[in-house]
Amino acid sequence: MARTAPASYSTLQKLLHWAVVVLLALQYFAFDSIGRAFRTLIETGTPSYSLIPIAHIVVGLLVLALTLWRLALRVTHGAPALPEEEPGWAGIAAKLTHGVIYLLLLALPVSGMGSWFLASRSLAELHEAGTSVLMLTVLLHVAAVLVHQFWWKTGLARRMM
Ligand code: HEM
Ligand code: HEM
Repeated sequence: MARTAPASYSTLQKLLHWAVVVLLALQYFAFDSIGRAFRTLIETGTPSYSLIPIAHIVVGLLVLALTLWRLALRVTHGAPALPEEEPGWAGIAAKLTHGVIYLLLLALPVSGMGSWFLASRSLAELHEAGTSVLMLTVLLHVAAVLVHQFWWKTGLARRMM
């Protein structure tokens, strides 16, 4: 358990952050057409294990595993304190945003598996809604990093490089 805040994120924490960014880009832009395979599953009752559903499921489970790993590292290594020159509300907003992202990175694979393996339309709707909320939260996260970097000029982006 980390007792004091470390000076920086560890190399492994940084690698995992960017690995998850790449995996999420694949989920949203390459493997999002799993929806077609899901409709076939609902209509015929038989799952199709062609390339896209397999890739979507494998990458989704990988995101789950890497997120659990990141959360464990957050407990053992910790995370650096926010720059002192920034307003207090920015730290609260960052904690909230990171919390929502972590929660969705756990909830999406679970709701995804539920919708696919139980052929559940309501879980699929929940999964889809979750993907939209994650997209919005990530946009907010990236906008915040840009504000820190270029408005407050605290060099925050370097903390994840
Ligand atoms: C972090 C992990 C995941 C992300 C970011 C993600 C992302 C997405 C996205 C962007 C879509 C398309 C939504 C749309 O068309 O509006 C989708 C649909 C779907 N995903 Fe995932 N997914 C993840 C994990 C999983 C897993 C592990 C499974 C199954 C084991 C799964 C099963 C599905 C299914 C069945 C659909 C179709 C839902 C429908 O069309 O109603 N997902 N997912
Ligand atoms: C799919 C996209 C992304 C996701 C899901 C994501 C998620 C996260 C999460 C959960 C954290 C908190 C880490 C922790 O303290 O445990 C974080 C931190 C960070 N992210 Fe991202 N991120 C994404 C994209 C980006 C991008 C594109 C940038 C660069 C513009 C970026 C820059 C940073 C920085 C600099 C931090 C450290 C913030 C701090 O020191 O408090 N992220 N990210």
